Amino acid sequence: MKHTFLLLLFSLFFSCKNNSIDQQKETEPVLGLITQKAMVVSARKEASAIGAAIMKKGGNAFDAMVATEMALAVAYPFAGSLGGGGFMVYRKADGETGALDYREKAPLAAYKDMYLDENGDPIPEKSQVGALAIGVPGTIAGIFAVHKRFGTLPIEEILSPVVDLANRGFAVTEKQRKRFENYKELFFEVNKDTILFAKNYKAGDTIKNIKLAATLKRIIKNGKEEFYTGETGKKLVEHIQSNGGIITLEDLSKYEAKWREPVRFNYKNLSVISMSPPSSGGVCLAQIMKMIEPYEISKYGHNQLKTIQVITEAERRAYADRSFYLGDPDFTKIPIDTLIGMPYLTDRMSDFNFEKATPSSEINCGMIPGYESDETTHYSIVDQFGNAISVTITLNGAYGSKLYAPEIGTFLNNEMDDFSAKPGVPNMFGLIGAQANAIAPEKRMLSSMTPTIVEKNDTFWMSVGTPGGSTIITSVLQTILNVEEFGMTMQEAVNAPRFHHQWLPDVVVFEPESFDPVLLDSLSQKGYKIDEETSKIIGKVDGILVLPNGTLEGGADKRGDDTAVGF
Ligand code: DON
Repeated sequence: MKHTFLLLLFSLFFSCKNNSIDQQKETEPVLGLITQKAMVVSARKEASAIGAAIMKKGGNAFDAMVATEMALAVAYPFAGSLGGGGFMVYRKADGETGALDYREKAPLAAYKDMYLDENGDPIPEKSQVGALAIGVPGTIAGIFAVHKRFGTLPIEEILSPVVDLANRGFAVTEKQRKRFENYKELFFEVNKDTILFAKNYKAGDTIKNIKLAATLKRIIKNGKEEFYTGETGKKLVEHIQSNGGIITLEDLSKYEAKWREPVRFNYKNLSVISMSPPSSGGVCLAQIMKMIEPYEISKYGHNQLKTIQVITEAERRAYADRSFYLGDPDFTKIPIDTLIGMPYLTDRMSDFNFEKATPSSEINCGMIPGYESDETTHYSIVDQFGNAISVTITLNGAYGSKLYAPEIGTFLNNEMDDFSAKPGVPNMFGLIGAQANAIAPEKRMLSSMTPTIVEKNDTFWMSVGTPGGSTIITSVLQTILNVEEFGMTMQEAVNAPRFHHQWLPDVVVFEPESFDPVLLDSLSQKGYKIDEETSKIIGKVDGILVLPNGTLEGGADKRGDDTAVGF
């Protein structure tokens, strides 16, 4: 029963059909949108357009971030919301880099075994669906932290177009219609009533979210406090508690977004800046890229046998470390420098050879002497001033906990499932964890979100990221490698078929009908377990690349409705 449930969630989550991976032409490069000065690439045309318009008015990338994020809450309720959280990595025009953590956290009343039954076994439904699955939301704290530090336009000017969008409504796309239909029953079940998104929509219908428009207006007037201590916060807590949740007004009032030092590492002549814990993204990306660096994958070829082997083996080892060492840095000591250092990583790959796959059963987390253990969406923005940001936000599962706050006009996350409910037991994404990611009051759950900025020759080169749970890290990895090692354009790099390995389960997941059967057979013969069933798509990458002539190329993933807009 539990497995059926998980399978259902997983397949619904990835129900968007992989019918659009472009066949790449041999000769002509496939280019994304090219603009001269500024660009937003996000999951919805409306959100990209609102963000770009803010910059056209003279706002910077940070102003555009606030507008884009809220526009996604209107037009992309699958992952955009006021009830979730995220991470932003930035690089300012002067080269300053930094990161913001507005990840959800566990409520004060949360405790380690809260999702276990009387036999000590996890009850996945409890951490995945309904009010008990909700972590204290960080989104509004996040956008206000960004605005306070780097914003240039008044919040009213930034958010008014979003209020208009919510009042005027957005057009349902075909992909969106299918998703609403897939989740209709679950919406009814969790909310015990119909909700705005449980109606029978056709593609092209308009959805107006009047309640969300009113909430945003109160937020414009009263600021972040409106959400964390004001009328909206009170309504939210009442709604969560009346549905069996444990979040209190104290939880909301104590929530703060945190500025963090991003993970920075070099890969050949690139300098990569990515999200630090409580996301595992930056550390794992660094580990994988550093393990791959000594191999000449550009000579092996894109998605060829030896390339897939090297990447898979590096991924296997990095995800094994993730499961043991990584968690909220405010609760767990994480040996980041060692984990991403060359001596450790060289040793980690020392038992790899091209003859045969290393079974995951033979891989444990690496030993570090002296160490004591004690549905997401991405957008990238570049402005006309040279600032760049990379933001990944999430409700975790599609529409989060499925609990909708009708008075506020938003879904609420099910981020609590990103904790390790029990050591060694997989979560929704098959990821396992240990003490480092155990539940504790006010702790942030470990993430895989990997908003990333890449510099080349000390100047900004690429902003990239994606949704996809555990596959986020490996999708970002492949996109960077596709451009740097295999000479693709940004759009081609995003389009190219992807594969994924995460240590456990010991399988390599491939996007179906995208890889040569002969190649898959060769991998099989070397001991790799091939899985083309689990996921129709892997990731939904959005990115922006600076071309040699200084113009910007957008890469918007056709696996979704993603769109680049700029000028
Ligand atoms: O933070 C994380 O790693 C997960 N909550 C992300 C979930 C996700 O990417 C779902 N989207 N496809």
